[in-house]
Amino acid sequence: MPRTLFVTTALPYANGPFHIGHIMEYIQADIWVRFQRAQGHAVHFVCADDAHGAPIMLNAEKLGIPPEQLVSQVNALHNADWPRFHISFNHFHSTHSPENTELAQSIYKSLKAAKMIASREIEQFFDPIKGMFLPDRYIKGECPKCGTADQYGDSCENCGAVYAPTDLKNPFSALSGAKPVLKKSEHYFFKLSDKRCIQFLQKWTGETKLQSEVVNKLAEWLGDNGKNLNDWDISRDPPYFGIEIPDVPGKYFYVWLDAPIGYLASLKAYFDSGKAKANGEGRTFDEFLADDAVEQYHFIGKDIVYFHTLFWPAMLHFAGRKVPNNVFVHGFIQVSGEKMSKSRGVGFGPARYLEVGLNPEWLRYYIAAKLNDRVEDIDFNAEDFIARVNSDLIGKYVNIASRSAGFIAKRFGGKLGKPQLPKDIAAEFSGASAEVAVLYEGREFGKAIRRIMALADLANQYVDGNKPWELAKQEGKDAELLTVCSTAVAMFRDLTVYLAPVLPKLAAEAGALFNFDAFEWKTSLKPLREGHDIQPYKHLMGRVDPKQVDALMGVEDEPKKPDAKAKAEPAADAPSTEFALTPTEAPRPAVIAPIAETISIDDFARLDLRVARIVDAEFVAEADKLLKLTLDLGVEQRNVFAGIRSAYNPKDLVGRLTVMVANLAPRKMRFGESQGMVLAAGDGSGVYLLAPDSGAQPGMRVK
Ligand code: 2FM
Ligand code: ZN
Repeated sequence: MPRTLFVTTALPYANGPFHIGHIMEYIQADIWVRFQRAQGHAVHFVCADDAHGAPIMLNAEKLGIPPEQLVSQVNALHNADWPRFHISFNHFHSTHSPENTELAQSIYKSLKAAKMIASREIEQFFDPIKGMFLPDRYIKGECPKCGTADQYGDSCENCGAVYAPTDLKNPFSALSGAKPVLKKSEHYFFKLSDKRCIQFLQKWTGETKLQSEVVNKLAEWLGDNGKNLNDWDISRDPPYFGIEIPDVPGKYFYVWLDAPIGYLASLKAYFDSGKAKANGEGRTFDEFLADDAVEQYHFIGKDIVYFHTLFWPAMLHFAGRKVPNNVFVHGFIQVSGEKMSKSRGVGFGPARYLEVGLNPEWLRYYIAAKLNDRVEDIDFNAEDFIARVNSDLIGKYVNIASRSAGFIAKRFGGKLGKPQLPKDIAAEFSGASAEVAVLYEGREFGKAIRRIMALADLANQYVDGNKPWELAKQEGKDAELLTVCSTAVAMFRDLTVYLAPVLPKLAAEAGALFNFDAFEWKTSLKPLREGHDIQPYKHLMGRVDPKQVDALMGVEDEPKKPDAKAKAEPAADAPSTEFALTPTEAPRPAVIAPIAETISIDDFARLDLRVARIVDAEFVAEADKLLKLTLDLGVEQRNVFAGIRSAYNPKDLVGRLTVMVANLAPRKMRFGESQGMVLAAGDGSGVYLLAPDSGAQPGMRVK
């Protein structure tokens, strides 16, 4: 049954360009949305700028422009940028819009009518020079506990104490330096602590298939019948850049009230503009949202769960509106294990990513390969990025087409023969469709990619085993050549359909080349017929040049390290040189050592293998093959001397996870003691450090 979905991502502040965290979230949501569309479901996918609040007002003031101008400039910037990552929002609006004003005011009125709004006088710090009440983050002073100077109004960076701004010693305004004074003012509250509200939230939590981490958080917040929940202050005094509260002149909604309403405002603008109609939705905005069958989903980061699982569903419910069917929460993106930070020079922005010439679909693929359905941070690691794109995406997937399709055009007039998948491979391919669909639906994108790449491995084994480039040279092998190439193309077509949510541009280009549509599973996965026309093969996607990634990460040019991977030569008999350096094409050693003698499970259990994070890596002066690694095992740190210098630059390793033998007897070496061993793959042509899948933590046992 076709479903109808309303999907959003969190609204970015209209205070500057996107950062990589935004793009990661949009990519996650976009993959899910494109997958849903491919299943034949109707999806209305929107976002908007979060335009209100004190920081934006103050930023505009600093720039010497009205806030309206700042938010409209940023809106233009954002609208130019999301399509560059192939995000398929149906509409991208702003909370500074007539739709949002109307909806926020009408929702407030409904909440008031439902007796969910209260008001009372509160006392807060006021900056007499700026003439405004100070949000906590703009009040500084000495920590009431340890006395450290220059601490923010909510917590101390030195001793970690948490307090109210009024507890600070010698407080001052971070805006003007003035000594703040306490001043009273009437504030409006949403009655989050109301019994009806707690009851509703407990029910909503119980009925919604929230992630377990979110359920645990909610259990904490709603525990003891919500006794620890306070009413939510939803009003702000001028000067404030926001939406006026109806019937209360001179008071504004706190930005977090009108921000999520922006989801609805964007949807409304999308309906009112006629775009929803063009997208097959004939109803009005109100009719659409009144339909219980319409499913509403929000993708958000872990820092804003509180707003989206307490205030937002409660506000909607007591305003008599549809509540979210689910809220999908993700972690943050880190760079080599470190939190992104502009001031410390960690990380990169999406603009920089494009500027150095990196392909946005590589990032989509990499992020997909790292994502799961849990609230976990994901790590952007340069080496890992290069390896996944070059070895998997290009080496395994694109390569299937580049090694087989050319012959169809050159030798058979572009007409496919009858694909004949060997029985075992055919069974794997036909079973995959349902499995991959379940993984996409459950946002287990990493697992979906692994499943798809396992199919690609089978396809490559088939091509390697049948060697079309050799058949092409032999007399009388035309029929066989045609069958092999057609079979490879058929497998490539299926893989393209599975990867299309992640790689929409590539899928469209491959579709144009091979004359198929990759975007609707039901029709796209039908068998390719004999005589099916394809175009002459064209280059589909190139490899990442590590220099681009160095430029992205701000790594200076350095003396070239001997790079084992770059030394590999393409196989002499492979017809395509386009992706020449990928593992599938690297020459194999003449003899592969036989598998070692059989051991019992008990023998294996004597090894204590652990996940370890490389927290430091350095050259060893007297040893030209070794690197000294400092490994964090969660409970302790170890030094290990590893023979991987020929393949890795120390600083590229810092932050990476690997696997170590933790119970190996320590070994005294000239330069110190080696307290274990890291695991790496190698066959003489290179060394490849093992890495656990994302989500593994230092100290975890490997078994
Ligand atoms: O945390 C943020 O960046 C907010 N601008 C997210 C708002 S999401 C929604 F509620 F609007
Ligand atoms: Zn302190």
